[in-house]
Amino acid sequence: MAIERMAVVGAGQMGSGIAQVAAQAGVAVTLIDVSPDVVRSGLSRIQKSIDKLVEKKKLPAGEGAAAMARIRPASRVLDAEGVQFAVEAVTENETLKKRIFVELDAVAAPGAILASNTSSIPITRLAAATKRPDSVIGMHFMNPVPLMALVEIIRGAQTSEATYETTRALAERMGKTTVLGKDFPGFIVNRILIPMLNEACFALQEGLASPEDIDLAMKLGCNHPMGPLQLADFVGLDTCLYIAEVLHQGLGDDKYRPAPLLRQYVDAGWLGRKSGRGFYRYSP
Ligand code: 3HC
Repeated sequence: MAIERMAVVGAGQMGSGIAQVAAQAGVAVTLIDVSPDVVRSGLSRIQKSIDKLVEKKKLPAGEGAAAMARIRPASRVLDAEGVQFAVEAVTENETLKKRIFVELDAVAAPGAILASNTSSIPITRLAAATKRPDSVIGMHFMNPVPLMALVEIIRGAQTSEATYETTRALAERMGKTTVLGKDFPGFIVNRILIPMLNEACFALQEGLASPEDIDLAMKLGCNHPMGPLQLADFVGLDTCLYIAEVLHQGLGDDKYRPAPLLRQYVDAGWLGRKSGRGFYRYSP
């Protein structure tokens, strides 16, 4: 099934990025968020990103404008009526995500695929909230979506082969390379990434080195584009903590326990880039 119309629910950083790459691939996108402010800032983030890609000659100006014109803002899940594909990209809250899946299940066309960009909630559990568990799948994009080459696809216990193939084809059409993972805590990327970021927090907490030296060591020593503390700030310290807790609980091994320093920063409201302060300070 070639996807012509899709919906993205959640217009935050991830949702707007997903809407952008879908629109750049020629898909008509309904970008839905209950908050008009979030939709507005999502659209402006997409415009800025497209402008940047055009400026760097990575995207012809005409294609950028055409992509922008393919995105229709909306405020209700009901506005996803008739779409062939939907990606949910709201905050990592299982109750909220399940509610959105129930609503999408009611309005999406029969046979439509419902995907989640969740980084940590079991796909099988989200699928069980719908009457089409075979058409529910994990489609985990990386941040920043327009620049990162990977989409991690996660098959729930009941996801069909046809759902997987359509999702993979759509991700490839968006210019992404896919990997396939099973529905276990953290999937592939976060299972490996988050313990590394958490370990950097333990190292800082123990006074092993300054934040700058921890980051420089991993940047130059391992050729990572960002150091682990810089990346944790970029991902959001609340998100890192949440995923660390999911790994700890889901895998039942104390090696995944979140660093107390990470928890303390989150308690203090130092969530990284988005709050202006994390391991580093950021100007608005
Ligand atoms: N759209 C278009 N252009 C963008 C952009 C966007 N969304 N974001 C940044 N850019 C531009 C920048 O403005 C910059 O332009 P300039 O050269 O004109 O200033 C250019 O892209 C390159 O950016 P930077 O100069 O900041 O430098 P980098 O070359 O380091 O690239 C990066 C930035 C791609 C973010 C790189 O630092 C990187 O790969 N970092 C690691 C990111 C990563 O690991 N992401 C995964 C996080 S884990 C995840 O998402 C899973 C989740 O579940 C937690």
